[in-house]
Amino acid sequence: MIVLGIETSCDETGVALYDSERGLLAHTLHSQIDLHAVYGGVVPELASRDHVRKILPLIDEVLKQAEIKTEDIQGVAYTAGPGLVGALLVGAMVGRSLAYAWNIKAIPVHHLEAHLLASMLEPLPPSFPFVTLLVSGGHTQLIKVKEYGHYELLGETVDDAVGEAFDKTAKLLGLGYPGGAALAKLAEKGVKNRFHFPRPMIDRPGLEFSFSGLKTFAANTINQHHLDDQTRADIACAFQDAVVETLVVKCRRALRLVGWKTLVVAGGVGANQQLRSELQSAMAKEDVKVFFPRQEFCTDNGAMIAYVGCQRLLRGEQAGLGVNVYPRWEYQEKT
Ligand code: KG4
Ligand code: ZN
Repeated sequence: MIVLGIETSCDETGVALYDSERGLLAHTLHSQIDLHAVYGGVVPELASRDHVRKILPLIDEVLKQAEIKTEDIQGVAYTAGPGLVGALLVGAMVGRSLAYAWNIKAIPVHHLEAHLLASMLEPLPPSFPFVTLLVSGGHTQLIKVKEYGHYELLGETVDDAVGEAFDKTAKLLGLGYPGGAALAKLAEKGVKNRFHFPRPMIDRPGLEFSFSGLKTFAANTINQHHLDDQTRADIACAFQDAVVETLVVKCRRALRLVGWKTLVVAGGVGANQQLRSELQSAMAKEDVKVFFPRQEFCTDNGAMIAYVGCQRLLRGEQAGLGVNVYPRWEYQEKT
């Protein structure tokens, strides 16, 4: 079964074609980062308008890349939530309308479910059951994934998401928006242990996270020092060390608690090199295997939407003719 996947929940327009037999056939992405950077964050109305401009040319592009005709497609999957309502509506309207015009099935997809299954697109995918660490701009969660469709929340952040903490700290360091990747790059030049940031909540039991204090700690450190280039890099390095160590401690705790031997990482912060390598080495000592999506599938993309849409269609699920989006949507809830 070949499924067209459409992602427009925030500031990336992603489109892909996934085949249940052959895997991913094509994918393409347009990032709106430059459009929003001057405002220091995503402007929802501009995001929606840009999705409108880009979506159809991107769909043409994946059809060409995959060298298939529209008649070969059996389903259209679109992100129905959570996300920005206007942005979601663009993908949902286009997806539902194309399915109607082509007389094929349409399926709404949950953005976080797609993130947490993104590593299924890799040549060596993980097998169920596993624990997922989902670290994105809006979420920081540990989830028990027994099998496809069975998700149990083990713990999450009580305040900022880890990507949000990266972005806010990056902004304080003058790195623009979204600054996670830029902060990680700056941290490479930092001197280890010049500054020491707290590791929030690691000495308390449980699997909750808290990252808002790190941003405040960064602000205070910045205020107390002359901010030359080396100091900025040293602060970035200390911030990243604290975040990574905190995530590693909580992952180890979660895996020991559940007793499973597979950890899957998902979401934009999963692209972070230091997180990837430190999780690998810490989990190897626990005899736990770690799986990551390739870096471009950590952040938002259409491939993960096409993949989940295909799984749901293969299970006989499909949407009616109405177009519904869910800006807030718990993935444990059924559509
Ligand atoms: O999953 P995602 O693309 O969007 C959401 O659904 O939230 O995640 C975006 C987040 C942003 O906060 C961004 O700064 C962060 O992921 N990010 C990174 C890196 N690349 C992206 N954070 C740390 N290191 C990176 N290399
Ligand atoms: Zn996302």
